Parts: sequence; C-alpha cells; structure tokens
Amino acid sequence: MKFFVDTADTAAIRELNELGMVDGVTTNPSLIMKSGRDILEVTKEICEIVAGPVSAEVVASDAEDMIREGKHLAKIASNIAVKVPLTWDGLKACKALSSEGHMVNVTLCFTAAQALLAAKAGATFISPFIGRMDDINLDGMQLIEDIRTIYDNYGYTTQILAASIRSVNHITDAARIGADVITAPPSVIKAMASHVLTDKGLEQFNADWAKTGQKIL
Ligand code: E4P
Repeated sequence: MKFFVDTADTAAIRELNELGMVDGVTTNPSLIMKSGRDILEVTKEICEIVAGPVSAEVVASDAEDMIREGKHLAKIASNIAVKVPLTWDGLKACKALSSEGHMVNVTLCFTAAQALLAAKAGATFISPFIGRMDDINLDGMQLIEDIRTIYDNYGYTTQILAASIRSVNHITDAARIGADVITAPPSVIKAMASHVLTDKGLEQFNADWAKTGQKIL
C-alpha cells in the first residue's frame, strides 16, 4: 500500500520522508491556507522533497479554467498530480488533462457512481473521503469496498486513494479492503507506531534490565 501525506507542512513531510514513509503528498486549498504559504512556492518545495505524486488542487469551477489552472500547476514539476473536484466540469477537466498525459486526482468523491465516472474520465487517482462520510453517519469504508469491487469487475486502473483519514483504524481497514493508497495527516501516520502494550512491555524490560546491572556498550 502506498502512503501519501495529507499536508503542506514541509517539515513534517521531510521527517516522514527520511523514514521512507512517503510515497506521495496531497494538498488542498484548506491545507495551503493552513501552511500560510504561496501555493506555487510551497508545492515546488514539496515536489523537490518527494519523488512520488504531489497533488495540487485547482480552484476554478468551470472546466476551461480548471484545465488552464491544472496546466499551470503541472508546470511546477513532473510529479504533479492535478487535483480536480468530482463535478461534471471536473470530469471534463480530468478527461482533457489525463489525455494530455498529466496525472489527475479526482477529489471530493462520496459515491461509487462518482468513482465510476472518474475512472471512465481517465483519473489516475480517485479520492473517496472516508472521514467526512463517517462524520455524518455514512459508511466511508463501505464506499471504499464498493469502489474496489466495481473497479476490479471491469479492470479500471484508476487508483483508489482513501482520503479524509481520521484514525489508524481507517488506514488498516482501507488496507484490508485493498485501497491502493491512503492519504493521512502526519499525526495519524505517526500514531500507527503506538500501542499501549508496546509502552508497557518496554517499561517492564527497562525495569528488569536495570536490575541486572549490565551494559551492552
Ligand atoms: C485529500 O486529498 C484531502 O486533502 C483530505 O484527505 C481531506 O481530509 P479532511 O476531511 O480531514 O479535510
């Protein structure tokens, strides 16, 4: 499974990248706002850190302007994936940009029907938002499962990028179902390493080791 980091915080990206945990990055207008930086400048820096796909999102609402923005974003680096929303115009932009060889991430997906359209429009990635569905008592993980089944039924190569991840369980569930990629905030990726029994076990080992009076070095 590929891990994308859902952030525009370059320090956090560097830290995880050094451990080999970063296969790509996703950003969105809210994350750019949070970074307090210029979109072109911060995206360029991210592309220099990470070799894999870096999603940069268009903000126009009509297809023509989305395509124009997408082409401009794609000039930042060869690993840019242009992110377009799952609207009719977004699908038109997806088709145009993917036909010209750009990677396209279709975002804000909330139904399997939307995911089917994105695959037909040539999306490289489809981003179903698990957490935002769970927030309103819909079943985000069921959506991942449905898209997996549909894409496998017909051999679509669009990668399922499980997004809006809120917890470690979201990641393990998405991995069990067979999502190709997850994108999660750095805090959630780091939380994957934690377990109360790991901490407790280590405490016991340290206490017992102290009693031996030995040293390894
Ligand atoms: C994905 O590409 C989005 O940027 C992100 O996962 C949205 O997550 P949120 O619902 O926590 O804002």
